[in-house]
Amino acid sequence: MVYKPKRKLTVNVASGLKRLRLPAFLVTFTSAVFLLPVILFAGDNGPCYECHTKQDKLKVTEKAKVDPVTGEINVASMLIDEAIYKASAHGGEDFFCIDCHQDLDGADLTEGHKSNLKPVDCITFCHDDPAEDYLQSSHVKLMKENNKDVPTCKDCHSGLSYHYTSLGEKSPRDVPKGVDPLHRKLTIEACGSCHQDHLESYRNNAHGQVTSLGHTTTDVPVCFDCHGKHKILNSSNPESKVGKERIIETCGNCHANANASFVKHVEHPQIKNVNYYKTLLAAIKNARNNPDNLKKVIKNPQTILCIVFVMYVGILAFTFSSFGLHSLLCWFAVVRDERKRKGHTDEEQH
Ligand code: HEC
Ligand code: HEC
Ligand code: HEC
Ligand code: HEC
Ligand code: HEC
Ligand code: HEC
Repeated sequence: MVYKPKRKLTVNVASGLKRLRLPAFLVTFTSAVFLLPVILFAGDNGPCYECHTKQDKLKVTEKAKVDPVTGEINVASMLIDEAIYKASAHGGEDFFCIDCHQDLDGADLTEGHKSNLKPVDCITFCHDDPAEDYLQSSHVKLMKENNKDVPTCKDCHSGLSYHYTSLGEKSPRDVPKGVDPLHRKLTIEACGSCHQDHLESYRNNAHGQVTSLGHTTTDVPVCFDCHGKHKILNSSNPESKVGKERIIETCGNCHANANASFVKHVEHPQIKNVNYYKTLLAAIKNARNNPDNLKKVIKNPQTILCIVFVMYVGILAFTFSSFGLHSLLCWFAVVRDERKRKGHTDEEQH
């Protein structure tokens, strides 16, 4: 039994036709017309599922594997959950196991196959664009400068998978779809695990509050809807999705009325960040030496927001403390009146 997916088989049939004479052509053609649908719907990953979904056929259901990039040793389950795989990003009808596990292309599978397959290469044949974007992003450059491990394709895409195998391991083959709400939720936590401050400030804002209520469908933005997926750049870079030139387009994907004043909305409010207030104070202190910096800080919508927030808290505090003081004084007055009245009645009794 030689394993070739049927997509390639149809190509073979088509090229074979050129060499056939007419009667043979007609016979092949009619049988192909009748057979094709059967072939197409027969489930092209059949031979792989045949072993990899059945414990008794596999004999070896767990294997220790060394990650070719990080050198980590993990125990991986050889068992596949067909439903989970089919729901994953690569589980469609026109995608085959051997598109990724290429050294099994055309292999004879009757007795199984060789043990150590080549690591799957996401980049060379399918996804060279994300790879290029990713490697050029200032994200990767800065991570390298800060001596942080730069995640690889499989770290982000399968590391964020919530599809556990029978061993309780996440399998790199079950890459979740980008539109999947649960997966989108996990990406917020993943970015936030390194960017705690920005995660907190995101939660102080309309978008972050909506997603924290569990609405993580594509109509509410998570980190990557604004910052991009692979080419993450600082907002001061004109090419950044949140940079001056592109931010109207980015917000406009959801807010049809987005214009230059709309995008002044502060995405990461620092209202609860003590350090931001410290930088404000420092700018005021240094006003003489560096007036330009003070101007820049004052013009920043972030500062206005913080001032409004402080005023708001101030007004609340003032209102409640006045209310408290007022009640206290009223209470004293009542007690005093009561005493006086008691005094009078005592006198009257005498
Ligand atoms: C006759 C049964 C059988 C069939 C058919 C089969 N496999 Fe396997 N496969 C196994 C067994 C048993 C193992 C685990 C032991 C080993 O690695 O030799 C395994 C291991 C694997 C591994 C892990 C290899 C590694 O490097 O650790 C991959 C990937 C894999 N199979 C993919 C496939 C794909 C894709 C197909 C269909 C093209 C397929 N298998 C068809 C029996 C089978
Ligand atoms: C989108 C690419 C992709 C497709 C499609 C795919 N796999 Fe894999 N598979 C991977 C990656 C990545 C790994 C992790 C090991 C590696 O990097 O080579 C893996 C690992 C495995 C393993 C070892 C267990 C593990 O979790 O490491 C088995 C078994 C396996 N695949 C079988 C299959 C079978 C059977 C199919 C078809 C039903 C399939 N794969 C389809 C990418 C894929
Ligand atoms: C730092 C995390 C990260 C790394 C590393 C990463 N990606 Fe992504 N990628 C994402 C996010 C987030 C998305 C959007 C959500 C999703 O689809 O999971 C995405 C989406 C994708 C998509 C879907 C198409 C699209 O643009 O929406 C492809 C294809 C992809 N990545 C390929 C790759 C490849 C190939 C690599 C390795 C060169 C890679 N990614 C590395 C985070 C990452
Ligand atoms: C493994 C940790 C890690 C993860 C995960 C991570 N980042 Fe970063 N990110 C960094 C480091 C390190 C820097 C460099 C600057 C710094 O130290 O803050 C950075 C920088 C940035 C910058 C600013 C670039 C600049 O020029 O200052 C943005 C924006 C950013 N990341 C967004 C994201 C988003 C969105 C995600 C999720 C898709 C994400 N990050 C996931 C570690 C991470
Ligand atoms: C609605 C769009 C939007 C969402 C969602 C969003 N951001 Fe931002 N982010 C921005 C904008 C605009 C800026 C630049 C202005 C600022 O700093 O507030 C920014 C700035 C940043 C910066 C500082 C570096 C820079 O480029 O200025 C980091 C780091 C960052 N965001 C991380 C995140 C993380 C992590 C998440 C998810 C928890 C997230 N962002 C969600 C729009 C967004
Ligand atoms: C993925 C879609 C999406 C993107 C991208 C997006 N937003 Fe939103 N935004 C929403 C949703 C959903 C809400 C909450 C529901 C509502 O109030 O309409 C919201 C609410 C808001 C609000 C609260 C006030 C209001 O209109 O209800 C502001 C302000 C806002 N967004 C600004 C921005 C800015 C600025 C950007 C770009 C940096 C942006 N949004 C990007 C979907 C998005």
